[in-house]
Amino acid sequence: MPKAPTHHAKLLAWVEEAVQLCQPAAVHWCDGSEAEYQSLCERMVAAGTFTRLDPVKRPGCYLARSHPSDVARVEDRTYICSRRQEDAGPTNNWTEPEPMRAKLRGLFEGCMAGRTMYVIPFCMGPLDSPIAKIGVEISDSPYVVVNMRIMTRMGQAVLDKLGAAGEFVPCLHSIGAPLKPGQADVPWPCEPDPARKYIVHFPEEPSIWSYGSGYGGNALLGKKCLALRIASNIARKEGWLAEHMLILALTSPEGKTTYLCAAFPSACGKTNLAMMLPTLPGWKLRCLGDDIAWIRLGDDGRLYAMNPETGFFGVAPGTSEQSNPNAMATVSRNTVFTNVVLTPDGDVWWEDMGVPAPARGTDWQGQEWTPGCGRKGAHPNARFTAPAGQCPVIDPAWENPAGVPISAILFGGRRPSTIPLVAEAFGWEHGVFMGAAAGSETTAAALHQAGVLRRDPFAMLPFCGYHIGDYLAHWLALAGRTDRAKLPKVFFVNWFRKSADGKWLWPGYGENSRVLAWICQRVEGAGAAVETPIGRLPAPDALPLEGLNLPADNLRQLLAVDLAGWRSEAEDIAKYHASIGARLPEAMRQELAALEQRLRQAAETVQ
Ligand code: OXD
Ligand code: MN
Repeated sequence: MPKAPTHHAKLLAWVEEAVQLCQPAAVHWCDGSEAEYQSLCERMVAAGTFTRLDPVKRPGCYLARSHPSDVARVEDRTYICSRRQEDAGPTNNWTEPEPMRAKLRGLFEGCMAGRTMYVIPFCMGPLDSPIAKIGVEISDSPYVVVNMRIMTRMGQAVLDKLGAAGEFVPCLHSIGAPLKPGQADVPWPCEPDPARKYIVHFPEEPSIWSYGSGYGGNALLGKKCLALRIASNIARKEGWLAEHMLILALTSPEGKTTYLCAAFPSACGKTNLAMMLPTLPGWKLRCLGDDIAWIRLGDDGRLYAMNPETGFFGVAPGTSEQSNPNAMATVSRNTVFTNVVLTPDGDVWWEDMGVPAPARGTDWQGQEWTPGCGRKGAHPNARFTAPAGQCPVIDPAWENPAGVPISAILFGGRRPSTIPLVAEAFGWEHGVFMGAAAGSETTAAALHQAGVLRRDPFAMLPFCGYHIGDYLAHWLALAGRTDRAKLPKVFFVNWFRKSADGKWLWPGYGENSRVLAWICQRVEGAGAAVETPIGRLPAPDALPLEGLNLPADNLRQLLAVDLAGWRSEAEDIAKYHASIGARLPEAMRQELAALEQRLRQAAETVQ
């Protein structure tokens, strides 16, 4: 065994325990250097896991193809093993910790035979941030090491920061594919049986065990596992917030910068909004993060948000010069692509990339592919892993250890009807109520049942690591910890409204800057609004729509309050509240009752 680059007794003991359990052929402590990254990439090229892309078209870029059983997060195999079931709440899979530990020990026994065990020290957040958290991932996947180096601050600097006795979250990961002596390896080894994949969190320890998958959030344990499920538990105890939110800065033509956070369920264009190119003349947008925000109360009583990650793990299909030119520039170099099409000239392609498909190529399963063959070339959840620092509009403050002061929080979802383009909450409790009721209509591709509304409170449904009722109470409690006037204003946005004949009413993408501009004006105490039963909506002519040519009837529908639609929305929210059970905060019931009352009054006025 090589000499370990740390004197941290607890870490050394845990690594030794993992070696005894997993029986790897070798152990490698990751230093996080460029040389280490390059040598792992080389090794994966030799093993067939990586294909080097054309060095002129995509310098420093690689393509990986996963096993067809290993293409996305596995929510039904994800567990929160708190001691008491009620602490995991109604939105999480739960089993008793001890039997689960025994099960996992059985699976991990000898699971790294014939493979190298990598010890990956990583830090979520800048090393000197007051809320940064250190994790150490043990993994038998070099793909994980390379991705973790892009997505986190990783390597020797983290061990140095940890010192001899610092705290860390142990994260044990295996692809679950031991090699027998002489057995040939495959390009993407993993456990192919979905029922033998486990993504398990023990929030009270805290620790993470992940078995069987090498893909994305299942395997890059700093992201959804640590920075959301475990961190949401830590944040609750320590009085801060770990959120599934982007962070962006918007600067007005007068030079005033407003920082805001936004939570949208998966597949609602979060990465697109995070680095959008505003079409509204004179406005500038800068990106600080596209997926996760850690938010704490500053000494001045304001909320400060910080991105704990250092990279983007974005969905490739649909990303184009039209939908997200800044993402296209970000992935032009030093990027790992997974499950996209390889073109004959050594470049990549995916559906809706906005450029013609190659006449032929190799699809995500490694098969010959042509545009007319009837199969998708890229997997719908194909990804790019790219360094955040490469984004042309990365904000200079994105690595500020203190974070940036947040003036507005946005919630959103895919809602073809009822929910207007934008509405401002009446106050903090109403804002939390709106966030709790957030949801998205499913697409056929995702759940085989189109048009079903899936409530996704704060876009945290798969990521809140404790009881969702307690989570809402934690948000509500902020109002008692600071001057309410210093809390961000809360808005609900909906870019996805459709007309009765199924056409989009709003163009979206860069045009969303017009809605963000109104939000910034509201934060400044300007921007005209009208009070409606569901919140404050832009007054007629308050949205800056010049140059857009939006039909007047589209605008009317986008800002209409559909009383009948809202009555059924309220009924559905009541059912949803009931599913949360006794831990639903009373303030949520009160907000629902107040909404119902306002809707009744409005209906009487209309009659
Ligand atoms: C993600 C997700 O992968 O939210 O970021 O699903
Ligand atoms: Mn996400």
